[in-house]
Amino acid sequence: MTTTKQAILKAAKQIQPNKIICVADKGLGRFEAEILLAYVIKKDRSYLLAHPDYELPAISYKRFSRFVERRKKHEPMAYIKNERDFYGRKFFVDKRVLIPRPESEMLVELAINEKPDLVWDVGTGSGAISISIAKEIKPLTVLATDTSSPALTIARKNAKRLKAPNVTFLKSDLLDRGARSFIDRRKPKRLVIVANLPYLPNKDKQHLDQDVVKYEPVSALFGGPSGLEVIKKFLKQISESELKFARIFLEIDPRQTKKLRTLAKSLFPKAKFKIYKDLSKRDRIFEIKD
Ligand SMILES: C[S@@+](CC[C@H](N)C(=O)[O-])C[C@H]1O[C@@H](n2cnc3c(N)ncnc32)[C@H](O)[C@@H]1O
Repeated sequence: MTTTKQAILKAAKQIQPNKIICVADKGLGRFEAEILLAYVIKKDRSYLLAHPDYELPAISYKRFSRFVERRKKHEPMAYIKNERDFYGRKFFVDKRVLIPRPESEMLVELAINEKPDLVWDVGTGSGAISISIAKEIKPLTVLATDTSSPALTIARKNAKRLKAPNVTFLKSDLLDRGARSFIDRRKPKRLVIVANLPYLPNKDKQHLDQDVVKYEPVSALFGGPSGLEVIKKFLKQISESELKFARIFLEIDPRQTKKLRTLAKSLFPKAKFKIYKDLSKRDRIFEIKD
């Protein structure tokens, strides 16, 4: 029999990264081992600390060991647990979708503040942004689009689990005919567009953490040689389509602010622009106000 304490100590050594970049990394192996074990035995971490001698049922220990093996190979915790917290809710995630990041919660907040009557989430992935917005404002119609069918399967599953029937998921390449006709039929007075499209330059592949590059979908991460190709195509489509919108909120790479501002100015000469910083004080959201 293995106790919780024994299981955690053994796993902590196995998971602990060799490279210590900051102080927090020192206890990372143990922290992650505790999270995984707590998840397996369906308790919280405080239970593990209070019950170090609890003897783990063989089946739980086996499952925990499988999880530790996966983590040793750098698989992200969210994929192992098949869940990620986002804006106070748990979303199902696996390799078919990007793991929603805390920075993207800003898109939810900003969209809600605009009191929209229609929201369009472009590149919805797991559906975290669109579903969170739909759950906060009722009644509201939300359109969520993505080119990836596997991602849309997960997004629909999340909408069902979280009871968000007012989100319509469509397979669509940026502003294509399907998305356009959905919006036109609703005749929105305040259309708010939120988009966390792929924005990393292709060359970043060499520098990113193994957790990210080895596991997260390439089509969700990389936005071409400069990183801006997908966003650029999207903004060009919007400006040429004469689609009326109240706001566009784009999640961006802080390195792109200058280029993006120049681009947006040329495409939307009458619009106003604003940058919102994330908690690390880096440019993160680019707002276009028509
Ligand atoms: C960075 S991920 C964001 C996922 C999700 N919105 C989030 O924040 O967790 C980018 C998403 O955009 C989708 N995507 C990439 N190119 C697209 C395109 N041309 N049209 C629509 N979606 C696209 C990808 O499949 C992926 O799901």
